[in-house]
Amino acid sequence: MRSALVVPAAGRGDRLGAARPKALVALAGVPLLVHAVRRAAASGVIDVVVVVAPAGACDEVAGSLRPLLPDVVVVPGGAERQDSVRLGLDALPDDVDVVLVHDAARCLTPPAVFAAVVSAVRAGAPAVIPVLPVSDTVKRVAGDQVVETVERAELVAVQTPQGFDRSALQAAHAAAAPGAAATDDAGMLEALGHPVLTVPGHDHAFKVTRPLDLLLAHALLAAEATS
Ligand code: CTP
Ligand code: MG
Repeated sequence: MRSALVVPAAGRGDRLGAARPKALVALAGVPLLVHAVRRAAASGVIDVVVVVAPAGACDEVAGSLRPLLPDVVVVPGGAERQDSVRLGLDALPDDVDVVLVHDAARCLTPPAVFAAVVSAVRAGAPAVIPVLPVSDTVKRVAGDQVVETVERAELVAVQTPQGFDRSALQAAHAAAAPGAAATDDAGMLEALGHPVLTVPGHDHAFKVTRPLDLLLAHALLAAEATS
């Protein structure tokens, strides 16, 4: 049986505010999506890649990835991330039993994170997420009033790739209310009572969301190039 990577890359990138959909924005001359897929492929643990592209950009996306992955499958995305992931899952071949879902926007995630997630799923966890400690103090608020300070030691920030037993993930997507718009696939399995295991995330797996994140990504690539 094989391991697959589904890459939701169909978002508009409103918060980044670039002229193009975020996954197609160039970083050092290469689209964010291609950076992300290169690092995933370098892990050596991915057999099948399905990219969920902005509608209208499927040919462009396939063209940019074929030199790296001749067999990449590219399908058009949906209105919300959850829709795009489901459309990617629908395109998986039958012989896939482990699925990683990875945001194109987490374009500098190191290969070792993919390897750690696949290995935890293969060891028997139905759902695996990379996490980091939260560095800011976090408070619950109602309007502009603080309600309480949340105990930080109990909190983590969640990244991708998130790894799953394929049938559990597909069942969770089938059970999810259409339009519920989950931003986190593991949360959908959690809602069905599946245990979700954490593994260490990585600072470089941050999501390019706002212009400041793109500056950080530029700086990291420049540092890699000179090291
Ligand atoms: N995504 C997707 N389909 C959507 C929305 C998001 O495939 N309908 C993907 C994005 O391309 C991104 C990942 O999900 O790789 C994480 O989403 P996010 O960072 O929110 O990206 P965008 O939705 O593009 O950005 P924004 O919310 O600022 O518009
Ligand atoms: Mg979004």
